[in-house]
Amino acid sequence: MENRRILTTALREEDHAYEPKLRPDHLESYIGQEHIKENLRVFIQAAKQRHEALDHVLLYGPPGLGKTTLSNIIANEMGVHIKTTSGPAIERPGDMAAVLNSLSEGDILFIDEIHRLNRTIEEILYPAMEDFVIDIMIGKGPGARSVRLDLPKFTLIGATTRIGLLTAPLRDRFGVVHRLEMYQVPELKTILLRSADVLQVCLDEEGAEEIARRSRGTPRIANRLLKRVRDFAQVKYEGRISGDVARFALDLLDVDKMGLDYIDRKMLMAMIETFDGHPVGLDTLAASINEESETIEDVYEPYLLQLGYIQRTPRGRVVTKRCYDHFGLPYPTNGKEETI
Ligand SMILES: Nc1ncnc2c1ncn2[C@@H]1O[C@H](COP(=O)(O)OP(=O)(O)O)[C@@H](O)[C@H]1O
Ligand SMILES: [Mg+2]
Repeated sequence: MENRRILTTALREEDHAYEPKLRPDHLESYIGQEHIKENLRVFIQAAKQRHEALDHVLLYGPPGLGKTTLSNIIANEMGVHIKTTSGPAIERPGDMAAVLNSLSEGDILFIDEIHRLNRTIEEILYPAMEDFVIDIMIGKGPGARSVRLDLPKFTLIGATTRIGLLTAPLRDRFGVVHRLEMYQVPELKTILLRSADVLQVCLDEEGAEEIARRSRGTPRIANRLLKRVRDFAQVKYEGRISGDVARFALDLLDVDKMGLDYIDRKMLMAMIETFDGHPVGLDTLAASINEESETIEDVYEPYLLQLGYIQRTPRGRVVTKRCYDHFGLPYPTNGKEETI
């Protein structure tokens, strides 16, 4: 169900065609995340001056915020090769050893979804990250012996949506750890105007503002909505995207003015009606709307928390006054603690 949503933060089939074109390739054109960029600029410059590999970098945060993009930019700025793989793609220790062995001095190894590496494979990474060596077993049975191989000095960049699932020893081996934040509307606007340029779409300020507001703080969604609105504008409005055209198209796509769709509404209304605005546990909530707890936590919730429509309390999730306001419903104050 999640992948059918136009608002999903996950990569959809339709994104493949244009995402690479829209991906900024230098820090300069990477919008927002100022704090991270500032830090990286210093690290990159220092490493280059010393002719050393960059420290290992861990990037975390919800999907679609620019982790993969940033990793590629780091490689670009360092002027080194980047080899890309992912946690689930590395099934056996031998795969990991082969990947490490194929690196050259200064190269970047990018491991996406690094929380999904299995434990035995992770253990190969520890000495590789720390001392640039791997221990491999040669032979089988009683004659087997372990041989230590030197690796070139490389940089590991790990990306994850679930930092909590990373083991402490792995996490501790990253010298640079950054959390990507959701984007503000003006930043999304800048991204959209740039994308419109690349795609040669006629998008005005108001149109950009309207799409930005409904993009859930996520560049991937912003670009996807731009693409959908463009198709619509092309057929009906000679390809020009104004505020009115954007509003009309996005309403038709069932993306409301704050970027909520039917799944968000279903969840929030369950919290308001079924649970009467009282705190509700994640699993109970998930069961009541027929969703996986994990999907709620990773996909729906981050944006709703960001909007301040829900809050996490020790007793469960709770809807706020702002959420009632969104639906034009009176906020029940009786017998309930203040949540805002
Ligand atoms: N800071 C940014 N500035 C401009 N575009 C961005 C930025 N971050 C992400 N994007 C756009 O969003 C898309 C998704 O980003 P991606 O790096 O794949 O996210 P993640 O790896 O975190 O899921 C990219 O293809 C790019 O077009
Ligand atoms: Mg990615």
